[in-house]
Amino acid sequence: MRLRGRKGIRESLEEQQDLVILQPAQYKGQWARLFGNDRPIHVEFGMGKGQFISQMSFRNPEMNYIGFDMYDELVRRASEKARAAWNGAEVDSPPNIKLALANIERIEEVFEPGEIERIYLNFSDPWPKKKHARRRLTHPRFLQVYSTLLNSRGEIHFKTDSETLFEFSLNAIADSGMQMTNISLNLHRDGINEEHVMTEYEQKFMGKGMNIHRVEVLVGKEALEEYNKHRLEKYGSRSDELQ
Ligand SMILES: C[S@@+](CC[C@H](N)C(=O)[O-])C[C@H]1O[C@@H](n2cnc3c(N)ncnc32)[C@H](O)[C@@H]1O
Repeated sequence: MRLRGRKGIRESLEEQQDLVILQPAQYKGQWARLFGNDRPIHVEFGMGKGQFISQMSFRNPEMNYIGFDMYDELVRRASEKARAAWNGAEVDSPPNIKLALANIERIEEVFEPGEIERIYLNFSDPWPKKKHARRRLTHPRFLQVYSTLLNSRGEIHFKTDSETLFEFSLNAIADSGMQMTNISLNLHRDGINEEHVMTEYEQKFMGKGMNIHRVEVLVGKEALEEYNKHRLEKYGSRSDELQ
């Protein structure tokens, strides 16, 4: 196996300017121009090796995707995944995905308010010690920042194997005054839906028989209006029936 040193990894990232963004703050307010279109931008914060965001980009060419991680090696691994996902399609490089090196602690430096439409948080680090709770990517201080970056259709989709992180996150979301929907304590209870795109961690934890928890958070005004029109239909009631 060919092992790359730190320098080799950085060189590999620098050679992939079509796909990898090493200084994402340079594109603040300019992401639509970089993609060359006004399609919605969906991001994953903490993409790891990038399987989810790569598959999503290939399956949904009408969207734009940006995957973020704070480690060079993971961004490099994700670049391999993205190219592999698009391998066979007649494109020089994956057209609707970028992979960016950034710490989410400073994500306001990367986007203008309203520049993104959906944030995926997949298997975020649980930071189990109470003294590290502020580092959890669903902490209210992060939710507050996300709410400014999302547009009027903005949503956050979160999944995790960690019961304690999930419980913390549901409370953090509720205490931030945000609307939750489609909460699941066992996402794959009825088997795996073919359209569902798995992350590396999801595959690993499911292999161990663990339940995956998931919640959607509606942030933008239009997303909330649409939700309110239909929110009781799955209970067999009309939304205007009960106030
Ligand atoms: C447990 S892994 C999950 C990876 C992937 N989303 C999955 O589901 O397979 C969490 C990832 O989040 C990244 N991460 C954690 N905190 C971060 C932060 N503040 N900024 C950027 N990336 C972060 C880690 O480097 C790691 O790759």
